[in-house]
Amino acid sequence: MDAFYHNSSVSSLESTDTAGKVITCKAAVAWGPGQPLVIQDVQVAPPQKMEVRVKILFTSICHTDLSAWKGENEAQRAYPRILGHEAAGIVESVGEGVEDIKKGDHVIPIFQGECGNCMCCRNQKTNLCQKFGVNPLKSVMVNDGKTRFSSKDGSPIFHFLNTSTFTQYTVIDSACAVKIDSQAPLQKMTLLSCGVSTGVGAAWNVADVQPGSSVAIFGLGAVGLAVAEGARVRGASKIIGVDINPTKFPKGKAVGITEFINPKDLEVAVHEKIVAITEGGVDYSFECAGNLEVLREAFLSTHTGWGVTVLLGIHPSPKLLPIHPMELFDGREIRGSVFGGYKGKTQLPKLAKQCMCGTLKLEEFITHELPFHNINEAFQLLVEGKSLRCLLQL
Ligand code: APR
Ligand code: ZN
Ligand code: ZN
Repeated sequence: MDAFYHNSSVSSLESTDTAGKVITCKAAVAWGPGQPLVIQDVQVAPPQKMEVRVKILFTSICHTDLSAWKGENEAQRAYPRILGHEAAGIVESVGEGVEDIKKGDHVIPIFQGECGNCMCCRNQKTNLCQKFGVNPLKSVMVNDGKTRFSSKDGSPIFHFLNTSTFTQYTVIDSACAVKIDSQAPLQKMTLLSCGVSTGVGAAWNVADVQPGSSVAIFGLGAVGLAVAEGARVRGASKIIGVDINPTKFPKGKAVGITEFINPKDLEVAVHEKIVAITEGGVDYSFECAGNLEVLREAFLSTHTGWGVTVLLGIHPSPKLLPIHPMELFDGREIRGSVFGGYKGKTQLPKLAKQCMCGTLKLEEFITHELPFHNINEAFQLLVEGKSLRCLLQL
């Protein structure tokens, strides 16, 4: 572990006991679609029953935050709001009834919670949770329908994706807090909060990529590159990366992508090219761009009879799948994947260990680092396609 990722300076909270008290801290607040986030004081109420208050140490920006910030998806109803869902931090205090997490634990917030008790949580076939599932429209706590954030005058500031991490302190349901090894480097663990788990899990849990197989990945942001990393670890022999931004290719090479296609360089459709170079199509394809035309290309790039396409990109309503029902008779499948199929609380600690022991390599994913108050600059880096993940230190 190199010096940059060493964690000892963040392993304990300050000695002042803030449990049970309102904390005033800095947060980046969204006041409307596309408006620069405002760094301002917010008040963070103590955690209620089965909730935890977390001191966020690192957060990064995922494309879903970008879409929400721009107002491109359903998440745009409640302002002011604290966005952000990729982070790592330390528990400051816990609410009544929380037994699996205590003050000082290192945690990763997860937008797809795991209550452990609902019908879905008890079923091994799914990672959805009926109580704390991801819902872009949700902006208040499940417990009482209220917010834990407020302005100085007491007016509510809304939550986002069960997490709201663009703040020095957040309150989340304990079902959405994953306790990880205290030795795990929190900077890198931030990536497991969404992008890397989503991508790696799509390759491992959802597609179940087999050794020697062929893979095509559409969209080489952090999510797509995490799919590549997952496929590399599984021993895929051909990993094709597709992106309209060729500056993503060198990073792709580092995580095991064996060949690249820039759709803009082709005179034929991408799927025709892929079918031609793979003896009829790849075994698995992944849509990580959030674009319906790309999804169709990904679907047609797989081999008839057994091809599997995994959908990871987020598609705003009211658009529908561009696929004729008869095309499914060709034996290709499309699977949706939320959070890489991971049941966060029970399965992420193992993934964190796999990162710690080097099975999964995360070095390539953090391309930039900035102080938290430069968050608007970090958004700009993602807008311009210059960053994979910009780590913001709080
Ligand atoms: N064809 C190929 N690649 C494309 C296309 C296209 N038509 N349009 C965009 N891309 C590429 C972009 O150039 C970029 O490299 O898709 C990539 C998306 O990467 P990021 O913006 O960094 O997004 P990321 O955080 O990786 O998320 C990808 O997964 O979780 C979802 O909401 C998220 O839909 C988003 C997707
Ligand atoms: Zn995300
Ligand atoms: Zn549940």
